[in-house]
Amino acid sequence: MKIAIIGGGNMGEAFARGIHRHFSGGDFELCVAEKNVEKHLAFHSLEIVTTSHNLEAVDNADVIILAVKPADMEQTCRDISIHLPGKCVVISIAAGVKLGSLKEWLACNNVVRVMPNLLASIGKSTTVWYTDVQDEEMKILATKILESIGSAHEVGSENEIDMATAISGCGPAYVWYFMEKMIAAGVAIGLDAQVAKALTLQTFEGASAMALGEDFDPTAMRLKVASKGGSTEQAIAVFDEKGVEGTIDGAIRAAYKRAKELGK
Ligand SMILES: NC(=O)c1ccc[n+]([C@@H]2O[C@H](COP(=O)([O-])OP(=O)(O)OC[C@H]3O[C@@H](n4cnc5c(N)ncnc54)[C@H](OP(=O)(O)O)[C@@H]3O)[C@@H](O)[C@H]2O)c1
Repeated sequence: MKIAIIGGGNMGEAFARGIHRHFSGGDFELCVAEKNVEKHLAFHSLEIVTTSHNLEAVDNADVIILAVKPADMEQTCRDISIHLPGKCVVISIAAGVKLGSLKEWLACNNVVRVMPNLLASIGKSTTVWYTDVQDEEMKILATKILESIGSAHEVGSENEIDMATAISGCGPAYVWYFMEKMIAAGVAIGLDAQVAKALTLQTFEGASAMALGEDFDPTAMRLKVASKGGSTEQAIAVFDEKGVEGTIDGAIRAAYKRAKELGK
Protein backbone atom coordinates (compact mmCIF):
# COMPACT_ATOMS: atom_id res chain seq x y z
CA MET A 1 0.00 0.00 0.00
CA LYS A 2 1.30 3.47 -0.87
CA ILE A 3 0.30 6.42 1.31
CA ALA A 4 1.05 9.97 0.13
CA ILE A 5 0.88 13.01 2.39
CA ILE A 6 0.68 16.40 0.68
CA GLY A 7 1.96 19.13 3.02
CA GLY A 8 4.68 18.32 5.54
CA GLY A 9 3.85 20.94 8.19
CA ASN A 10 2.60 20.35 11.74
CA MET A 11 -0.15 17.93 10.82
CA GLY A 12 1.61 16.29 7.87
CA GLU A 13 4.45 15.45 10.22
CA ALA A 14 2.06 14.27 12.98
CA PHE A 15 0.29 11.96 10.48
CA ALA A 16 3.58 10.69 9.06
CA ARG A 17 4.91 9.91 12.55
CA GLY A 18 1.69 8.14 13.57
CA ILE A 19 1.42 6.12 10.34
CA HIS A 20 5.12 5.27 10.42
CA ARG A 21 4.88 4.03 14.03
CA HIS A 22 1.80 1.95 13.29
CA PHE A 23 2.71 0.36 9.98
CA SER A 24 6.46 0.12 10.55
CA GLY A 25 7.83 -3.22 9.38
CA GLY A 26 4.70 -3.92 7.31
CA ASP A 27 4.18 -3.81 3.56
CA PHE A 28 3.65 -0.08 3.09
CA GLU A 29 5.28 2.88 1.45
CA LEU A 30 4.97 6.43 2.75
CA CYS A 31 5.88 9.54 0.76
CA VAL A 32 5.54 13.13 2.00
CA ALA A 33 5.36 16.00 -0.50
CA GLU A 34 6.42 19.30 1.00
CA LYS A 35 7.42 22.36 -1.00
CA ASN A 36 9.70 23.75 1.72
CA VAL A 37 12.83 21.54 1.54
CA GLU A 38 14.01 22.62 5.00
CA LYS A 39 11.06 20.70 6.42
CA HIS A 40 12.23 17.48 4.73
CA LEU A 41 14.89 16.95 7.40
CA ALA A 42 12.40 16.01 10.13
CA PHE A 43 11.10 13.20 7.88
CA HIS A 44 14.54 11.98 6.88
CA SER A 45 15.43 11.47 10.53
CA LEU A 46 12.53 8.97 10.59
CA GLU A 47 13.64 7.44 7.27
CA ILE A 48 10.45 8.69 5.58
CA VAL A 49 10.73 9.48 1.86
CA THR A 50 10.06 13.08 0.85
CA THR A 51 9.64 14.94 -2.41
CA SER A 52 9.07 18.54 -3.46
CA HIS A 53 6.75 17.36 -6.23
CA ASN A 54 3.16 16.52 -5.37
CA LEU A 55 2.70 14.48 -8.56
CA GLU A 56 5.59 12.19 -7.59
CA ALA A 57 3.92 11.53 -4.24
CA VAL A 58 0.46 10.80 -5.66
CA ASP A 59 1.80 8.53 -8.41
CA ASN A 60 0.38 5.03 -7.74
CA ALA A 61 -0.83 6.03 -4.27
CA ASP A 62 -3.68 4.08 -2.66
CA VAL A 63 -4.31 6.76 -0.07
CA ILE A 64 -3.64 10.50 -0.42
CA ILE A 65 -3.78 12.68 2.69
CA LEU A 66 -4.16 16.39 1.99
CA ALA A 67 -2.52 18.31 4.85
CA VAL A 68 -2.13 21.83 3.47
CA LYS A 69 -3.80 24.96 4.90
CA PRO A 70 -7.44 25.54 3.86
CA ALA A 71 -6.38 28.52 1.70
CA ASP A 72 -3.94 26.30 -0.27
CA MET A 73 -6.39 23.46 -0.74
CA GLU A 74 -8.09 24.47 -4.01
CA GLN A 75 -4.84 24.97 -5.92
CA THR A 76 -3.31 21.78 -4.46
CA CYS A 77 -6.37 19.73 -5.44
CA ARG A 78 -6.54 21.16 -8.95
CA ASP A 79 -2.80 20.52 -9.47
CA ILE A 80 -3.06 16.81 -8.65
CA SER A 81 -6.54 16.17 -10.05
CA ILE A 82 -5.65 14.82 -13.48
CA HIS A 83 -2.91 12.62 -12.03
CA LEU A 84 -4.97 10.83 -9.37
CA PRO A 85 -4.69 7.06 -9.58
CA GLY A 86 -8.00 5.45 -10.62
CA LYS A 87 -8.70 3.62 -7.37
CA CYS A 88 -7.39 5.79 -4.57
CA VAL A 89 -9.02 7.38 -1.57
CA VAL A 90 -8.33 11.04 -0.79
CA ILE A 91 -8.46 12.18 2.84
CA SER A 92 -8.66 15.93 3.53
CA ILE A 93 -7.83 17.18 7.01
CA ALA A 94 -8.36 20.88 6.22
CA ALA A 95 -10.63 22.76 8.61
CA GLY A 96 -13.81 24.04 7.01
CA VAL A 97 -13.19 22.91 3.43
CA LYS A 98 -16.38 21.24 2.23
CA LEU A 99 -16.60 17.77 0.74
CA GLY A 100 -18.43 19.14 -2.32
CA SER A 101 -15.62 21.62 -3.06
CA LEU A 102 -12.94 18.95 -2.61
CA LYS A 103 -14.75 16.59 -4.99
CA GLU A 104 -15.13 19.32 -7.59
CA TRP A 105 -11.48 20.50 -7.39
CA LEU A 106 -10.17 16.92 -7.46
CA ALA A 107 -12.67 15.74 -10.08
CA CYS A 108 -12.94 12.64 -7.90
CA ASN A 109 -15.71 11.17 -5.73
CA ASN A 110 -13.61 9.04 -3.40
CA VAL A 111 -13.04 11.76 -0.84
CA VAL A 112 -13.25 11.63 2.95
CA ARG A 113 -13.36 14.76 5.10
CA VAL A 114 -11.60 14.31 8.39
CA MET A 115 -10.86 16.27 11.56
CA PRO A 116 -7.92 14.79 13.49
CA ASN A 117 -5.68 16.54 16.01
CA LEU A 118 -1.97 16.95 16.63
CA LEU A 119 -1.96 13.94 18.98
CA ALA A 120 -1.79 11.87 15.77
CA SER A 121 1.99 11.96 16.13
CA ILE A 122 1.80 9.67 19.20
CA GLY A 123 -1.15 7.60 17.95
CA LYS A 124 -3.64 9.41 20.24
CA SER A 125 -5.67 11.54 17.84
CA THR A 126 -9.43 11.61 18.30
CA THR A 127 -10.52 11.76 14.68
CA VAL A 128 -13.98 12.27 13.22
CA TRP A 129 -14.72 11.60 9.56
CA TYR A 130 -17.49 12.07 7.06
CA THR A 131 -17.94 10.88 3.51
CA ASP A 132 -20.64 10.16 0.99
CA VAL A 133 -18.52 7.41 -0.60
CA GLN A 134 -20.59 4.23 -0.88
CA ASP A 135 -17.71 1.87 -1.64
CA GLU A 136 -17.24 -0.20 1.55
CA GLU A 137 -13.68 -1.19 0.63
CA MET A 138 -12.66 2.48 0.44
CA LYS A 139 -14.31 3.24 3.76
CA ILE A 140 -12.47 0.32 5.36
CA LEU A 141 -9.17 1.59 3.95
CA ALA A 142 -9.82 5.14 5.22
CA THR A 143 -10.74 3.78 8.66
CA LYS A 144 -7.56 1.69 8.74
CA ILE A 145 -5.44 4.80 8.10
CA LEU A 146 -7.32 6.91 10.64
CA GLU A 147 -7.13 4.20 13.30
CA SER A 148 -3.36 4.09 12.80
CA ILE A 149 -3.19 7.58 14.37
CA GLY A 150 -5.69 7.02 17.20
CA SER A 151 -9.44 6.49 17.45
CA ALA A 152 -11.74 7.21 14.51
CA HIS A 153 -15.46 8.00 14.60
CA GLU A 154 -17.70 8.32 11.54
CA VAL A 155 -20.28 11.12 11.79
CA GLY A 156 -23.50 11.47 9.85
CA SER A 157 -23.23 15.11 8.78
CA GLU A 158 -20.54 17.45 7.58
CA ASN A 159 -21.50 20.08 10.14
CA GLU A 160 -20.33 17.70 12.88
CA ILE A 161 -16.82 17.92 11.40
CA ASP A 162 -16.88 21.71 12.00
CA MET A 163 -18.22 21.15 15.53
CA ALA A 164 -15.52 18.59 16.25
CA THR A 165 -12.92 21.07 14.96
CA ALA A 166 -13.86 23.41 17.83
CA ILE A 167 -13.62 20.64 20.45
CA SER A 168 -11.07 17.98 19.53
CA GLY A 169 -9.29 19.54 16.53
CA CYS A 170 -8.31 22.65 18.51
CA GLY A 171 -8.61 20.89 21.89
CA PRO A 172 -4.95 20.02 22.54
CA ALA A 173 -4.14 23.75 22.36
CA TYR A 174 -6.80 24.55 24.98
CA VAL A 175 -5.32 21.96 27.35
CA TRP A 176 -1.78 23.19 26.76
CA TYR A 177 -2.96 26.80 27.28
CA PHE A 178 -4.44 25.84 30.65
CA MET A 179 -1.22 24.00 31.58
CA GLU A 180 0.85 27.03 30.58
CA LYS A 181 -1.20 29.35 32.79
CA MET A 182 -1.21 26.91 35.72
CA ILE A 183 2.60 26.60 35.60
CA ALA A 184 2.96 30.40 35.45
CA ALA A 185 0.62 30.82 38.44
CA GLY A 186 2.59 28.19 40.38
CA VAL A 187 5.78 30.13 39.72
CA ALA A 188 4.04 33.39 40.68
CA ILE A 189 3.24 32.04 44.16
CA GLY A 190 6.86 30.94 44.61
CA LEU A 191 7.27 27.40 43.23
CA ASP A 192 10.41 26.48 41.32
CA ALA A 193 9.56 26.47 37.56
CA GLN A 194 10.55 22.82 37.06
CA VAL A 195 8.52 21.75 40.09
CA ALA A 196 5.49 23.78 38.95
CA LYS A 197 5.75 22.13 35.52
CA ALA A 198 6.08 18.59 36.90
CA LEU A 199 3.16 19.05 39.32
CA THR A 200 0.95 20.48 36.57
CA LEU A 201 1.75 17.83 33.95
CA GLN A 202 1.39 14.92 36.36
CA THR A 203 -1.94 16.30 37.58
CA PHE A 204 -3.26 16.43 34.00
CA GLU A 205 -1.95 12.93 33.33
CA GLY A 206 -3.59 11.46 36.43
CA ALA A 207 -6.86 13.36 35.99
CA SER A 208 -7.11 12.21 32.34
CA ALA A 209 -6.36 8.60 33.28
CA MET A 210 -9.11 8.68 35.89
CA ALA A 211 -11.53 10.41 33.50
CA LEU A 212 -11.09 7.57 31.02
CA GLY A 213 -12.40 5.08 33.57
CA GLU A 214 -15.96 3.82 33.41
CA ASP A 215 -18.92 6.11 34.14
CA PHE A 216 -16.79 9.20 34.68
CA ASP A 217 -18.86 12.13 35.90
CA PRO A 218 -16.77 15.34 35.85
CA THR A 219 -19.09 17.24 38.21
CA ALA A 220 -19.17 14.46 40.82
CA MET A 221 -15.39 14.06 40.66
CA ARG A 222 -14.80 17.80 40.95
CA LEU A 223 -16.97 17.91 44.07
CA LYS A 224 -14.86 15.14 45.64
CA VAL A 225 -11.85 17.46 45.45
CA ALA A 226 -13.70 20.70 46.22
CA SER A 227 -14.77 19.88 49.77
CA LYS A 228 -16.70 22.49 51.69
CA GLY A 229 -14.59 25.31 53.08
CA GLY A 230 -11.39 24.05 51.41
CA SER A 231 -8.85 25.50 48.99
CA THR A 232 -10.34 24.02 45.81
CA GLU A 233 -13.73 25.52 46.63
CA GLN A 234 -12.05 28.94 46.81
CA ALA A 235 -10.34 28.41 43.45
CA ILE A 236 -13.57 27.30 41.76
CA ALA A 237 -15.38 30.32 43.26
CA VAL A 238 -12.84 32.56 41.50
CA PHE A 239 -13.38 30.66 38.21
CA ASP A 240 -17.13 31.25 38.61
CA GLU A 241 -16.75 34.93 39.58
CA LYS A 242 -14.53 35.53 36.54
CA GLY A 243 -17.03 33.83 34.23
CA VAL A 244 -14.80 30.96 33.10
CA GLU A 245 -17.82 28.91 31.98
CA GLY A 246 -18.97 31.71 29.66
CA THR A 247 -15.41 32.23 28.46
CA ILE A 248 -15.08 28.56 27.49
CA ASP A 249 -18.49 28.61 25.79
CA GLY A 250 -17.51 31.77 23.87
CA ALA A 251 -14.16 30.29 22.85
CA ILE A 252 -15.71 27.09 21.51
CA ARG A 253 -18.34 29.07 19.58
CA ALA A 254 -15.63 31.33 18.09
CA ALA A 255 -13.62 28.29 16.96
CA TYR A 256 -16.75 26.67 15.45
CA LYS A 257 -17.64 29.89 13.59
CA ARG A 258 -14.09 30.23 12.28
CA ALA A 259 -13.98 26.58 11.20
CA LYS A 260 -17.06 27.18 9.04
CA GLU A 261 -15.61 30.43 7.62
CA LEU A 262 -12.34 28.74 6.60
CA GLY A 263 -14.13 26.73 3.95
CA LYS A 264 -15.64 29.79 2.25
N1 LIG B 1 -2.43 22.14 13.39
C1 LIG B 1 -3.40 21.41 13.90
O1 LIG B 1 -3.40 21.10 15.11
C2 LIG B 1 -4.52 20.92 13.01
C3 LIG B 1 -5.50 20.06 13.54
C4 LIG B 1 -6.48 19.56 12.68
C5 LIG B 1 -6.50 19.90 11.34
N2 LIG B 1 -5.56 20.76 10.86
C6 LIG B 1 -5.58 21.08 9.42
O2 LIG B 1 -4.40 20.54 8.89
C7 LIG B 1 -3.96 21.33 7.77
C8 LIG B 1 -2.49 21.63 7.94
O3 LIG B 1 -2.30 22.39 9.12
P1 LIG B 1 -0.84 22.58 9.71
O4 LIG B 1 -1.00 23.17 11.06
O5 LIG B 1 -0.07 21.31 9.53
O6 LIG B 1 -0.28 23.70 8.68
P2 LIG B 1 1.23 23.95 8.27
O7 LIG B 1 2.14 23.63 9.42
O8 LIG B 1 1.27 25.32 7.68
O9 LIG B 1 1.50 22.84 7.15
C9 LIG B 1 1.10 22.96 5.81
C10 LIG B 1 2.33 22.66 4.97
O10 LIG B 1 1.95 22.48 3.63
C11 LIG B 1 2.90 23.18 2.80
N3 LIG B 1 2.25 23.45 1.53
C12 LIG B 1 1.45 24.48 1.16
N4 LIG B 1 1.04 24.32 -0.10
C13 LIG B 1 1.58 23.17 -0.56
C14 LIG B 1 1.52 22.47 -1.79
N5 LIG B 1 0.79 22.93 -2.80
N6 LIG B 1 2.18 21.30 -1.88
C15 LIG B 1 2.91 20.81 -0.85
N7 LIG B 1 3.02 21.42 0.35
C16 LIG B 1 2.35 22.59 0.48
C17 LIG B 1 3.21 24.42 3.62
O11 LIG B 1 4.41 25.02 3.17
P3 LIG B 1 4.55 26.62 3.41
O12 LIG B 1 4.55 26.84 4.89
O13 LIG B 1 5.88 26.91 2.78
O14 LIG B 1 3.39 27.27 2.73
C18 LIG B 1 3.36 23.82 5.01
O15 LIG B 1 4.64 23.27 5.23
C19 LIG B 1 -4.83 22.58 7.75
O16 LIG B 1 -5.73 22.50 6.68
C20 LIG B 1 -5.56 22.57 9.08
O17 LIG B 1 -6.87 23.09 8.97
C21 LIG B 1 -4.57 21.27 11.66
